[in-house]
Amino acid sequence: MYSYYPEELIEEIRINNDIVDVVSEYVKLEKKGKDYFGLCPFHKEKTPSFSVVATKQIYYCFGCSKGGNVIHFIMNVENLDYVEAVKYLADRARMELPEGESKEEKEKAELRKEIIKINIEAARFFRDQLYSEQNRNVVTYLKNRKISEQMIRKFGIGYSPHDWDLLYKHLTGMGFRNEVILKSGLAQPAKNGGYCDRFRSRVIFPIFDIRGNVIGFGGRVMDDSMPKYMNSPETPVYNKGRNLYAMNFAKHSGVKNILIVEGYMDVITLHQAGITNSVASLGTALTESQGRLLKKYAEEIIISYDSDTAGQAAAMRGLDLLNEIGCNVKVLVIPDGKDPDEFIKKNGAEAFRSLIHKSITLVEYKIKVLKKQINTETIEGKIKLLNNAASVLAKVDNVVEREMYIRKIANEYEITEEALLAEVYKKIKPKSNFKSKGQDISNIGKIKQKDGNFDSELVQYERRLLAILCFDNSVYKAVKNKINVQDFTLEENKKIAEYVVERLSNNKGIVPGELLNILDEDYAKEFTRIIQEECNFEDNIKAILDIIKKIELFKIDKRQKEILKLLGHHEGLTGGDVENLKQELQMLLIKKKGL
Ligand code: GTP
Ligand code: MN
Repeated sequence: MYSYYPEELIEEIRINNDIVDVVSEYVKLEKKGKDYFGLCPFHKEKTPSFSVVATKQIYYCFGCSKGGNVIHFIMNVENLDYVEAVKYLADRARMELPEGESKEEKEKAELRKEIIKINIEAARFFRDQLYSEQNRNVVTYLKNRKISEQMIRKFGIGYSPHDWDLLYKHLTGMGFRNEVILKSGLAQPAKNGGYCDRFRSRVIFPIFDIRGNVIGFGGRVMDDSMPKYMNSPETPVYNKGRNLYAMNFAKHSGVKNILIVEGYMDVITLHQAGITNSVASLGTALTESQGRLLKKYAEEIIISYDSDTAGQAAAMRGLDLLNEIGCNVKVLVIPDGKDPDEFIKKNGAEAFRSLIHKSITLVEYKIKVLKKQINTETIEGKIKLLNNAASVLAKVDNVVEREMYIRKIANEYEITEEALLAEVYKKIKPKSNFKSKGQDISNIGKIKQKDGNFDSELVQYERRLLAILCFDNSVYKAVKNKINVQDFTLEENKKIAEYVVERLSNNKGIVPGELLNILDEDYAKEFTRIIQEECNFEDNIKAILDIIKKIELFKIDKRQKEILKLLGHHEGLTGGDVENLKQELQMLLIKKKGL
């Protein structure tokens, strides 16, 4: 559906990649009953709650609710998009993929290629500007900022001239199509007709993707004017949340950790100082996708953001995110409120290296921040600090590590370890017992969706019904007369019902892993959750019949309420209408009794 490969081919690829085999390449799995369990690769945990079910061909984590089929697994663990993951798995199964992509996809790929070509040409153009006589001041600026000639070349630094549309004209002159130049974000329509360049009078930093393609640009003014930096907009090749500046270099550094900083200048100075395992998030909040990219290339991630409050808050969010997806994270604190670039220029590379060695763990950092925020001179302050520290410690799930911190803090504030320990235990949430057997179908709580809406009970019953059909095909014959595809309320559910019923009514089978192929990623995740969390019934036929009954009851109740409302204020109703409604109400009551 969101790929240009034919459905049957994707299905063949999926079948040729058994989920247990594929996951085993990343996670140590142990068989428990008929399912496999291991430590979740998507969040940090000490006891396995990540399950793989061979019969359903799905994975699901009871801890972080990530789930899907083998394609989703590869997308998430390798940080690939859908098409890339399909290609990866085809390759793994030694299957040939046809070159004949759909027309639309071919055009998109062509567009991306052409934008990259434009970007390469623009990067050359900017670089050449740097060496033209009238731009001597730019070279002086870079010199003043102590950027070496070698770094200028390594990072492809350039300059966008002051002129209105020099680059635009250059690109058109090279034969690039107008619409593609606009899509590259390098030029835009001008107010009074014509086009103007996006970057003017700025030092230019080309942004490379992990493979070294030029996907966008950042530009810095050389004075105090605003905005200080300007970046390429989102384009068909540039997505800022998926990229990390200098990752193309850092991935070769051969060091077990990666240092993440905020800005272009920081990274360049670090590389110049020989600290080539550094990347920048370019001033935006770290995304999960960036986190996974980091995790793929490094055992440990050290974050060094500005120590101003904004930088600190950003660091904290980034740390939590990285920690949640299972990275080992540390924080490098720069003493006098400088950024890495300023610090190195003032104190030298060696001083910075020793800061790297002194970087502290997430817990230590959080407590350090608390100490800064809370005045511990007073009793109240001291209590508040210990209370907050206990909350931080409650989240540490390694007991040895937790006790070590407790000892340290207890010592520092002259309280007993036992008292602090008691505080911490009060805050540790009991883990839910996820293997519930013989579930009851009636306990549907309202589930809050991402957008804050509540799905109606009806929709949730429908999903459970479809889930059961999907993993236990044998129930179909018992319920086929009661199922009508058109009755499902949500479009997605209708689509699932259509697919499943078509298959089962033709005496063919289906497994959840296959069905997930036709859903978008979020819905696939949700559907997997329902299969694993809400459908552990002892008797699937009994459960599905119960659900169907609930659905019918729900619909009768709804219609009853509607009729009563209509009868309640019956302006506009003829006598005949009223009679009909009353009759319908009667019928509904009889139907309800018959259920
Ligand atoms: P210098 O001031 O040249 O040392 O750059 P810096 O990298 O230290 O800048 P700063 O710490 O102020 O910001 C960190 C990063 O945030 C920059 O490298 C940019 O990627 C981004 N950034 C900063 N200011 C702006 C801005 O005005 N607009 C945009 N879009 N991004 C900005
Ligand atoms: Mn700076």
